[in-house]
Amino acid sequence: MKQLIENHRVIVCTGSGGVGKTTLSAALGVVAARMGKRVLVLTIDPAKRLATTLGIDQSADEVQVPGQDYAGSLHASMVDQTRIFADYIRRHATDQATIDGLFNNALYQQLSTTLSGSQEFTSLSKLVDTADGGRYDLVILDTPPAAHAVDFLRAPEKLNAVFDSAIISMFMGRTRGLKLASTAWKMGVKMLLGTLTVLTGSQFVATFNSFFSAIDAIAPAIRETNLKAHHLLLDRRTAFVLITSFDQAKIIEGEAFHDELENAGYHLKKVIVNRAWPAWAEPGSPQVASVQAELQQQGLTDLANLHRDLCTYYAGRSRAHTRFENIIKLAEFDTEVVGLRALEQLADRLEQIG
Ligand SMILES: Nc1ncnc2c1ncn2[C@@H]1O[C@H](COP(=O)(O)OP(=O)(O)O)[C@@H](O)[C@H]1O
Ligand SMILES: [Mg+2]
Repeated sequence: MKQLIENHRVIVCTGSGGVGKTTLSAALGVVAARMGKRVLVLTIDPAKRLATTLGIDQSADEVQVPGQDYAGSLHASMVDQTRIFADYIRRHATDQATIDGLFNNALYQQLSTTLSGSQEFTSLSKLVDTADGGRYDLVILDTPPAAHAVDFLRAPEKLNAVFDSAIISMFMGRTRGLKLASTAWKMGVKMLLGTLTVLTGSQFVATFNSFFSAIDAIAPAIRETNLKAHHLLLDRRTAFVLITSFDQAKIIEGEAFHDELENAGYHLKKVIVNRAWPAWAEPGSPQVASVQAELQQQGLTDLANLHRDLCTYYAGRSRAHTRFENIIKLAEFDTEVVGLRALEQLADRLEQIG
């Protein structure tokens, strides 16, 4: 883990929903801050209690996590899609009228919240800003729960398709250069048409004109950000960490995702099997021996045997993961991960095992 942190400036935590991405992103942040790094954890959907622990339940802004005492410093921020997108427009639009016109535009309102790819776009644009901004040594990016997690990484491509002047050209009656075969492109158009149909004739024309003239001005910036995000994700100093669980379905998803990442040229540096076993059955852990000793001492031979069998079972299950390289396994904690101390305990384990 230490080497991973030392050698990278971005760590992207990926994996399917519910495996512990958000929690482990925060715990990795603790490891890095202890090493003296100025680190930002960019979370997407923190559970309420984790958000409170990180100090981001009141505001999505970048905050220093309260109650810490590390050699470096731990910061956190929540990706607030609508706000980041609005900030982005403010920074890249050329004049105030464009900005106002756009924010009041029905198409924009639709696009900024529901467009496929915009949540991904906002987190990637935030990643680009913070990774290059000089304020942090390391940015850890949590990714949204997606049916196919790799969709996240295709977001720049998708959004480019939607904002591509080719589409604008089509609406403007200029059809040269269209890539009609692209499904992403078709999805974008379908989305736009869906919004347009609820408008009356004159609203349609006004909404349509103001939207496209404004977006035409911003499209080059969006494309540039997407390009930067693409390069940053492929950079040698960006590491991907795949998080999975012992659940058979999650492992299959994890393996598919593992292959997609490698094929796409991303640097997958670690696989973490989270909740691999209960802490009392972790192979090689001193807790196993102490549980055994205590059960024997109390004369609970049946329970002691059951415990030993379960330990053998968990150890056997762990051998099923040989397809992954650079794999580490993390026990399931008896209690829910609540509070900074709990994150620190997870960080202790990550330091010990990886
Ligand atoms: N090793 C672990 N031991 C016990 N609970 C865990 C562990 N890892 C994660 N959790 C719990 O699992 C739940 C889901 O974790 P979360 O990080 O929100 O997953 P994701 O972001 O992948 O959806 C949370 O309640 C979290 O506290
Ligand atoms: Mg999450």
